[in-house]
Amino acid sequence: TSGKLLVVGSLNQDTSLKVHVLPKPGETVAAIDVLVSAGGKSANQAVAASRLGAEVSLIGAVGDDEAGTALRRQLEASGVDTSSVSTIVSTATGTALITVDDQGENTIVVAAGANDHLTPERIGDSDFGGAAIISLCLEVPDHVLVYAALRAKRQGARVMLNASPLRAFDCALLELADIVVVNEHEYSALFGELPAEDDDWLTKLAELATQLLIVTLGKDGAIAVDRSTPTPTIHRQESRHVEAVDTTGCGDALAGVLAGELSKGTPLPEALERATAFASLVATRSGAQSSYPSREAFAQWQAEQAYAYE
Ligand code: RIB
Ligand code: NA
Repeated sequence: TSGKLLVVGSLNQDTSLKVHVLPKPGETVAAIDVLVSAGGKSANQAVAASRLGAEVSLIGAVGDDEAGTALRRQLEASGVDTSSVSTIVSTATGTALITVDDQGENTIVVAAGANDHLTPERIGDSDFGGAAIISLCLEVPDHVLVYAALRAKRQGARVMLNASPLRAFDCALLELADIVVVNEHEYSALFGELPAEDDDWLTKLAELATQLLIVTLGKDGAIAVDRSTPTPTIHRQESRHVEAVDTTGCGDALAGVLAGELSKGTPLPEALERATAFASLVATRSGAQSSYPSREAFAQWQAEQAYAYE
């Protein structure tokens, strides 16, 4: 069933400092470049999904400052419905300090600000109507996520949990999730060692409440284990080979495109292919949302890639 995508969670203003080598504790290093841009894992997901044509609403919170206004505007420019983004008075918008090295690897420190002030009371009744998928990640309080997941589920939406950033969280969220998206580190922290064989993947998934498990493997693509079908299936998806400049927002892009495509009714293998390709392109540019291509630019890049491989 298709419908809209509801994303619940964070919006941050990102300040990215490009350095050659990440500083060690006690060390001071010079930045080569500074970029202030729109981020936050949930806002990033919403933008990625919307760029590829999903109908997306974001539930979240910003402060009553310039950053909040700017973030809201940029979401709207990408076609995301922000009518359920609350403005919290006398509170700062979430902010992330990011360092990016020559390999495109990063470290991120987040001050949650308004994201921590999102409450169930701020979520409207109308938000859940017509949602096929509700997507959650871990940059807002757990009780808000549990509440939203329960409400959405009652309306027939599937719950997708992107267990990121890694932190202790309410295990009810795992029970409620129909779809779980994790990277290798998150997988290990939650479920132990990565299975090697297909049978082990299926056994593992059968232990969980989840119908669909997606493990993202960075430049090695992603693996999807699906037991929503009569016979459980495993899909492996390679990513495109790119020169990584800044991997900030790659995981959010992958999760967002996947959620958006599934909400549109795109079959899983195609949705996974699109999501990993989009995330690959995102790694070649600076920032999070600032690195997300338009639908046209993405299509053109894909065409060029296909040509390059002939
Ligand atoms: O995943 C990248 C995001 O994490 C950044 O945009 C930053 O805001 C943090 O939420
Ligand atoms: Na990027």
